Amino acid sequence: MEEMKRTTDCGALRKSDTGRRVILNGWVHRKREHGGVSFINLRDRYGITQVVVDSAAENPAPVELAALVTELRNEFCIAVEGLVRPRPPSMVNPEMSTGEIEVAAERIAVLSRSGALPFQIDEESGAKEELRLKYRYLDLRSAGMQRRLKLRHDTAFAVREWMIGQGFYEIETPTFIKSTPEGARDYLVPSRLYPGRFYALPQSPQLYKQILMVAGFDKYFQIARCYRDEDARGDRQPEFTQIDIEMSFVDRDDVLTMTEGLMAHVFKKTLQVDLPSRFKRLSYEEAMERYGTDKPDLRFGLELQDFGPYAAASSFQAFKDALSAGPDGTVRGGVKALVVPGEAMGGGPYSRKQIEELEAQAKIYHAKGLAWMRVAGTGPVLEGGAAKFFAENAAAVIDGLGAKQGDLILMAADSRRKTANTALGAVRSKLGKDLGLCEGAGKFEFVWIVDFPLFEFNDEEGRWEAAHHLFSYPQEKYHAVLEQDPGSVKGDLYDLVLNGYELASGSIRIHDPELQKRIFKIAGFNPEEAEARFGFLTEAFKYGAPPHGGIAPGLDRLVMLMAGESSIKEVIAFPKNSFAVSPMDGSPGEADRKQLDELHLSVAYPKEDSSNIL
Ligand code: AMO
Repeated sequence: MEEMKRTTDCGALRKSDTGRRVILNGWVHRKREHGGVSFINLRDRYGITQVVVDSAAENPAPVELAALVTELRNEFCIAVEGLVRPRPPSMVNPEMSTGEIEVAAERIAVLSRSGALPFQIDEESGAKEELRLKYRYLDLRSAGMQRRLKLRHDTAFAVREWMIGQGFYEIETPTFIKSTPEGARDYLVPSRLYPGRFYALPQSPQLYKQILMVAGFDKYFQIARCYRDEDARGDRQPEFTQIDIEMSFVDRDDVLTMTEGLMAHVFKKTLQVDLPSRFKRLSYEEAMERYGTDKPDLRFGLELQDFGPYAAASSFQAFKDALSAGPDGTVRGGVKALVVPGEAMGGGPYSRKQIEELEAQAKIYHAKGLAWMRVAGTGPVLEGGAAKFFAENAAAVIDGLGAKQGDLILMAADSRRKTANTALGAVRSKLGKDLGLCEGAGKFEFVWIVDFPLFEFNDEEGRWEAAHHLFSYPQEKYHAVLEQDPGSVKGDLYDLVLNGYELASGSIRIHDPELQKRIFKIAGFNPEEAEARFGFLTEAFKYGAPPHGGIAPGLDRLVMLMAGESSIKEVIAFPKNSFAVSPMDGSPGEADRKQLDELHLSVAYPKEDSSNIL
């Protein structure tokens, strides 16, 4: 087939190429017959070119060619030789880069045939995800997947360009490691040489990048593959990619500024979007109070407001109870409100059913209920739902919340303020989606969340655990009270949030081995256990560890958001489905007896066989 090797690609030809003899290689995207003329849209990675086989012309195409064309089916891989000619004016397609020309075929060779397709490439028919993943190579031929993987490629390139320009070294860290704690389960690789021993696949390169700082590399980055055995979600995969970064002799603001520069470069280079030179910053507490989440979507307002004073002055017992003091005299509860503007609700006031759907959302987040009332059309009057409890104070409530006639007021109360916040925050997110408040391609709202608590209490296990990971630096002013009041300790931790997704996480690290040991202890590791798991890090810290900090933006999430998608599968060439299975190659597969023996393993199948999902 040497003589049919392509001379140009399917996206290149323009009117100025008229008269050129060309050879194109590609796939039959569509074929149409029109009054003795066949039109083939020939596709490759670069575009689509219209090929014409004209049996009715003055110089008709040879009979064999016409016969061959009748055999062509979608997705046959073919080579076409012919002459470039302008399309008749009525046939010019301004939507296509090659829309002014066509290639009059003189020779066609079938390079490879295609069987019947499980779904049409590029049809908006919406093939089921499972089918798309099973025939991923066909799905990847679609314009959308081609565009998104190019965006991913461009993004990774822009990341390297920026990081290297800033003096960072790209250094690979191992993927057969000792477990790194990031809060998920490890994937383990059994060792053949050492029976009963396992390598863990890294949940992130965290410990290694810190050790690279001890080693004096000063500025490190890596586009790193990470592995976590955790429940699937739209923005999670068992294996995913981080833009992993670590820097020495820096404080928090240095890391934030560097990340802002990185994002600005990437967005400008790939999407031609200008980002603000500094992103907004919210403390964790403020984010929880105003948005009910540490991942607020700032593409819309709908902020939560404190309803406590109105609740306390009302006769609504459920609300008052939430605000009553506990045995130690402290009030831990809260009542929060959210005003939904009448005009945002579009088709008139929300129905009971719609409010019930919002309540169901609040209950998922452990709210006992969702109270509501409406500002009446006339005067400062509240009506419906819980209005009767606030009738006397209606004007003050309406004015205080900044509500207008026709607005809906939603309220959540709980004896834990955090629950009231998160439940109403979930309602806010749902409203954002339902009311289309976060729509609009190209709208990117970044926000830093800073000053996170260092520890969270694990109710089930009855112990404190690291909110981010164990290596984050407690802010100086809390060092004296670490052990006495872990819940009050704020860490030098930061998350970068984009459009309601956690895009990146990082922290200034502990570089003092003694402080590190205190943290291990509070998080419930006895010294031997800590030594066994992380001893190599504390050992390294004994030899002049520099102060350091870093961050890791998720590359998949970044590209997903840039592409305006809501699932990272859309920006990963070969993702797993939600059962951590690859429908294309059938992984995870079984190992045969011989392999298991070599690895000194035997399988104890669970009683209830869950393998039927494979
Ligand atoms: P963290 O665990 O927060 O931090 O992860 C950092 C970022 O990685 C992305 N991410 C994921 N993306 C897809 N699928 C997953 N399962 C998944 N899990 C995480 C997110 C997240 O913000 N070592 C620390 C970083 C540091 O402190 O420097 C770490 O891994 O975008």
